[in-house]
Amino acid sequence: METKIHHPLLKTYSYQVPTRIVFGLGSFERLKDELKRFEFKRALLITGKTVCKTDACAWVREVLSSIGGLAEFNEVPPEPDAPVLAVLTKIVRRNPPDLIVGLGGGSSLDMAKMASLLTVNEKDPIAYFKGEPVAKKGPPIVTVPTIAGTGSEVTPISVVVDRGLKLALHNHHLYPALTVIDPALSVTASPQATASAGIDALCHAVESIMSVDSNPITASLAFEATSLVDDYLERAYCNGEDVEARNGLALASAMAGMAFANTGLSLAHGIAYTYATRCKLPHGASVGVAEPYVIEFNSPSIPDKAEVIAAGLGLDTQGLSTSGVGYAIALRMIDIMETVGLPLSLEDLGLEESDLEPMVGSLLKNYLRFIVKNPRKPSREELLKLYRTMLEGY
Ligand SMILES: [Fe+2]
Repeated sequence: METKIHHPLLKTYSYQVPTRIVFGLGSFERLKDELKRFEFKRALLITGKTVCKTDACAWVREVLSSIGGLAEFNEVPPEPDAPVLAVLTKIVRRNPPDLIVGLGGGSSLDMAKMASLLTVNEKDPIAYFKGEPVAKKGPPIVTVPTIAGTGSEVTPISVVVDRGLKLALHNHHLYPALTVIDPALSVTASPQATASAGIDALCHAVESIMSVDSNPITASLAFEATSLVDDYLERAYCNGEDVEARNGLALASAMAGMAFANTGLSLAHGIAYTYATRCKLPHGASVGVAEPYVIEFNSPSIPDKAEVIAAGLGLDTQGLSTSGVGYAIALRMIDIMETVGLPLSLEDLGLEESDLEPMVGSLLKNYLRFIVKNPRKPSREELLKLYRTMLEGY
């Protein structure tokens, strides 16, 4: 007999994040002791072209070399694609590592996860993004983020671009074994990178709260992450060396990651994927454009969750209707994004009315998985209306 239970506390759910988290200012110095636990013989360090020249990378290199052998892949671009994965695949299959360390932004951490998977699984890398089962667990993955926002440091998710489409692989073999999150590593991140990554963390948090698979544990993590971004993103943008703000954003990134790793993301990420690669927009900035409008669209169907998001953003909602709460949330998000110089509408991205129909088509064809998690299921007409509102902005 089917039992219908509506109260969130009475839901049945599971929650898992197996990653050991070492967090805080100075935690980077504990890296050597942490890495010794793995007893590896040959590590592979994965970074991008800029991060590989930093003092932080030199230190990781020194630490790894002092424990075992070391190989490096320093060519991860901002939006890794199939050719990058192909090069990485050759490297790990020629000389299989027994530990993978990703240092950098979300792209380097995502590629570290794929390096682990591809070391022991033999199919074409893109096949795993299209449903090929991941038979074996690869060598342990260690993530060291240098900017706060993607949550990749704690999620079992990797994203790659293939022929203009963003493909995501969500598999429990991709969970990092360890993450060392030292907010001091992000003080040199540019204001623009800080803004985009920081708004991504906020979008992860609010989308996790809105997700149909939200539960009391994830909601608690996501609420705290929402509040931290609200408190600290504008501060970190205005003063990159504000370590309290960097600390707040680093924590928000990890907490939102721990939430959405279990709930998935909802509509705004799917919408963003329909223009992000075409507009060559950083990931967080692209999602930020959609989020306020999606929240306003969803709010009437999730009045309790909208109140939680509003509280995370420090809003007084007394006397507001459900739609009014959604609108107030949207305006606060717009306010944050305006302060940190992010685009606010599709017009800001150079898109036009004639672009909208094809983007709706792409969303329904390629990114349905985000609609599945969304609390309000939009019709094609409602999506077109939503895109029209996004085009002009508030
Ligand atoms: Fe994201």
